[in-house]
Amino acid sequence: TWTMANFIETEIEDIRRKVGTGKVLCALSGGVDSSVVAVLIHKAIGDQLQCVFVNNGLLRKGEAEKVVNLFTKHFKINLDYVDAADRFLGVLSGVSDPEKKRKIIGNEFIYLFEEEAKKLGQVDYLAQGTLYPDVIESVSTKGPSAVIKSHHNVGGLPEKMNLKLLEPVRELFKDEVRLLGKELGMPDEVVYRQPFPGPGLAIRCIGELSGEKLDILREADAIVIEEIRKAGLYRDIWQSFAVLLPVKTVGVMGDARTYEYTVALRAVNSLDGMTADWVKLPYELLGSISSRIINEVKGVNRVVYDISQKPPATIEWE
Ligand code: XMP
Repeated sequence: TWTMANFIETEIEDIRRKVGTGKVLCALSGGVDSSVVAVLIHKAIGDQLQCVFVNNGLLRKGEAEKVVNLFTKHFKINLDYVDAADRFLGVLSGVSDPEKKRKIIGNEFIYLFEEEAKKLGQVDYLAQGTLYPDVIESVSTKGPSAVIKSHHNVGGLPEKMNLKLLEPVRELFKDEVRLLGKELGMPDEVVYRQPFPGPGLAIRCIGELSGEKLDILREADAIVIEEIRKAGLYRDIWQSFAVLLPVKTVGVMGDARTYEYTVALRAVNSLDGMTADWVKLPYELLGSISSRIINEVKGVNRVVYDISQKPPATIEWE
């Protein structure tokens, strides 16, 4: 009979047999799939696994610290932490088109990853958190989902670097990967994390980016997540997040006029991201998110709630 414990045992044997005395490289994103894959492979081959985590400056508040802590302190996995926030902000400067942002971020990641890999010396395998649905989808290469998937992994890198692929969860679905993570002793915060796009906050900060705008968005977003968690709704919602609009509107504070940014709140339910419906969040929760953002985040004086379905709207605003 198929059990998760059996699966882990079989996979560990398989990874050991394949890799032998070789070295495995794994790009951590902070998401569920790559995290689970890293922990599983580490269980099989220990220090023969080397992880790389790139902080592109487009992550959520506290995310980079959490990843570093979990992998180095808790799991004692070799982790190369690359702080590339300035570099990403640099190459994105002046860019406002969503697809251009995606392309630039994807390419920059590949350059960086290649540089890091070179520093690490001989590597034999590249580990990836490919899931069964990804395997099926990559068969049909057209359409928006193919574009999306291209950001999940490192594209043509394996061929270019002459690496073999190690994809230990390619037969699992998302819910099975979560169970696997639980079984491997990973915290709920990682295992039940809401999906987060590869280009991160860059596609939630509408139009041209700046360090200041990203900071505003990061603070607003942290409040959204905190309040949703406090209300006990985090795990019931597919995705919930803040979007920073490039629109300033008038407000008042005391007896002074303000002219500041607008934050849009987005919370959707979905089964696979292909269609989605906005979540009927309780008015009290909407109220507390709004007043906290306006009171605590400097530069924002207005919060609106996005009540659009997908289709025809998309989940992300870019
Ligand atoms: P949309 O906005 O197309 O999003 O309704 C559907 C799902 O895909 C995620 N998404 C992305 N994920 N790279 C990613 O890794 C991307 O460029 C990207 N764009 C959208 C989005 O968060 C949602 O879950």
